[in-house]
Amino acid sequence: MIIAIDGPAASGKGTLGKRLAAHYGFRHLDTGLIYRAVGKAVLDRGGDLADEAAALEAARSLDPAHFDDPELKTQAAGEAASVVSAHPAVRAALLDFQRTFAAAPPGAVLDGRDIGTVICPDADVKIFVVAKPEVRAHRRALEARSRGEAADEGAILADILKRDERDKNRAAAPLKQAEDAVLLDNSYLDIEGGVRAAIDIVEAVRAGRRRV
Ligand code: DC
Repeated sequence: MIIAIDGPAASGKGTLGKRLAAHYGFRHLDTGLIYRAVGKAVLDRGGDLADEAAALEAARSLDPAHFDDPELKTQAAGEAASVVSAHPAVRAALLDFQRTFAAAPPGAVLDGRDIGTVICPDADVKIFVVAKPEVRAHRRALEARSRGEAADEGAILADILKRDERDKNRAAAPLKQAEDAVLLDNSYLDIEGGVRAAIDIVEAVRAGRRRV
């Protein structure tokens, strides 16, 4: 089984996808980390994020062993990810890796922006996760502070709005809800509540009780 989690609030840095995967005994891929790793690699080499060839080179030499680098969680890495992820060649270079991951047994949860629309259009269950931007900014600020980073919530909110706009309006695999995805608004849910709601959706879709 493949579960696709997309949407502006999909990742919460992998918490929902990770928890859902653990619940079902599946593997989990937070695809945002891939784009964050590409963005960080370009910056580390002193390259220009807008340079598609430089970003493609970074995508081709990506090492998944580094996906747990804590630096990938920073706002700067997220911003860099949003820029490099708009390059069609970068997205194309990362397609096979994601599809291979999704197809391997016993099942997988992938979260990102284009899993249900482009990477795994035949996913068994698709969930599109949204939350109010102010709530997401507050959560990001708490996360950053828990890592010991200073966090200006207003600046984070502005960054979130800018990034959502860029992700939605790019030509290559823009962020949008797949027609057969179930919407989950977790603005007023804590992590436990969000995980429970997602499991309810998976069970309802699997049982044929939910059609979208
Ligand atoms: O989910 P995240 O914050 O780690 O994602 C960072 C950026 O990466 C996001 O702004 C857009 C991009 N991204 C993407 O284009 N496609 C994905 N499947 C995942 C992330």
